[in-house]
Amino acid sequence: MEIFYVFLLLAVGLALASAENAKASLMYPYGTDQGDTKNPKSDDGTSSKINIPVPFTFYGKKYNSLYVNNNGVVSFGVNVSQFTPDPFPLDGGSPFVAPYWGDVNNLKGGDILWRQTQQPALLSRCTADINLYFPDIPFTTTWALVATWDRVAYFGTASKKVNTFQAVLITNGELSFIMLNYADIQWTTGVASGGNAKTGLGGTPAQAGFDSGDKINYYNIPGSRTSDIINIAATTNVKTPGRWAFQVDEFVIGVSTEKINCLE
Ligand SMILES: *[C@@H]1O[C@H](CO)[C@@H](O)[C@H](O)[C@H]1NC(C)=O
Repeated sequence: MEIFYVFLLLAVGLALASAENAKASLMYPYGTDQGDTKNPKSDDGTSSKINIPVPFTFYGKKYNSLYVNNNGVVSFGVNVSQFTPDPFPLDGGSPFVAPYWGDVNNLKGGDILWRQTQQPALLSRCTADINLYFPDIPFTTTWALVATWDRVAYFGTASKKVNTFQAVLITNGELSFIMLNYADIQWTTGVASGGNAKTGLGGTPAQAGFDSGDKINYYNIPGSRTSDIINIAATTNVKTPGRWAFQVDEFVIGVSTEKINCLE
């Protein structure tokens, strides 16, 4: 009988270890030791304007700069302080990549970190992932941005709940892709968006996806702005729970090569 319990404990231990490994391999490396810059501690804050040497094409428009905003959005053109998410497409027409748009408060916990990179090892990893998910598209990465929200708390928090997620922007200057990684999602809503201080749930929950700003090309990840978004770390469009990947230089959703909005 006792030997059975020893095996049971071993099995549980191995399962936990492999779940940790899966999480670690889902996220691209991040942290100040990787050369990341940390956003200042500021509710609804943002990075400074980040100029990029290789243009990022987002549905036909090329962008040479972007912002990594505390509230879970990478934006082009303007910075974003809005804390309660709106569904895509937005009225304002600002291009958004939104791994998890919600009311983060890094004064209460966590960090928002980012780096742009042309480091060969990291670019190779990007290329391998994109080639796997989009096998029909010949592609080699020349530039990437890794933006990470590491154990971030929500506005008005009265709990220890934190979220860890990432947006990776990948391009060769013409073709471009985004990869959204969700390691651990524990809250959906800040208090100013109608959420509960103790649970971080309720109200208007977080929004995930992207919006090109042209009112035609956008995508809301299923569950966005509903309580189901709490489960986003278990969902995927690329057979890897916690990861969503999209080509965003033209309108192709997920791994399908079918053009949903074909202009030819
Ligand atoms: C963000 O945008 C506001 C309004 O346009 C501006 O006043 C502010 O300086 C910007 N912040 C940064 C870091 O660029």
